[in-house]
Amino acid sequence: MAETLAFSNTSDREVIYNEIIPQIEALVSVEEDLVANLANISAVLKEAFGFFWVGFYLKKGNQLVLNAFQGPIACTRIDFDKGVCGHSYSTKQIIIVPNVDEFPGHIACASASKSEIVLPIFEKNDEVFGVLDVDSDLLNDFSEVDSVGLGKIISIVEKLVNTNKS
Ligand code: SME
Repeated sequence: MAETLAFSNTSDREVIYNEIIPQIEALVSVEEDLVANLANISAVLKEAFGFFWVGFYLKKGNQLVLNAFQGPIACTRIDFDKGVCGHSYSTKQIIIVPNVDEFPGHIACASASKSEIVLPIFEKNDEVFGVLDVDSDLLNDFSEVDSVGLGKIISIVEKLVNTNKS
């Protein structure tokens, strides 16, 4: 397994996504434990982009429960109808929030968080298995480039989730 992550020193996120995605594929290809893989994916995103907080909330019963993450401590349970994560879960959509103070019901785990993107992770049956939440301490820090780049990483996670279950 590669012990270090390699990526360009550039502010062009598309370039960085394209560099880290094959490395994520290589990392997860040698490990079958889902939490171990989600932990390393969080670490890759944190290291490559310096995001304030990166992590996964997975469906457990009737809530989303904190799973592997990188960053400050965070709220552990989110109801399906609460926050940006709950909104992504319920609507099955990618949600970009340019200013968290303007999102009704946003759950502030840390006051330093200013903008956020949340992507749903789908099971084979089209149910939502959980979400990936990425927070920035800058306003308006996420764009279509992140939806596409993180979306490719979600596709890798969906393969893991759906392989583990079959
Ligand atoms: N802000 C999220 C809660 C999770 S933390 O940001 C880590 C939300 O509103 O769902």
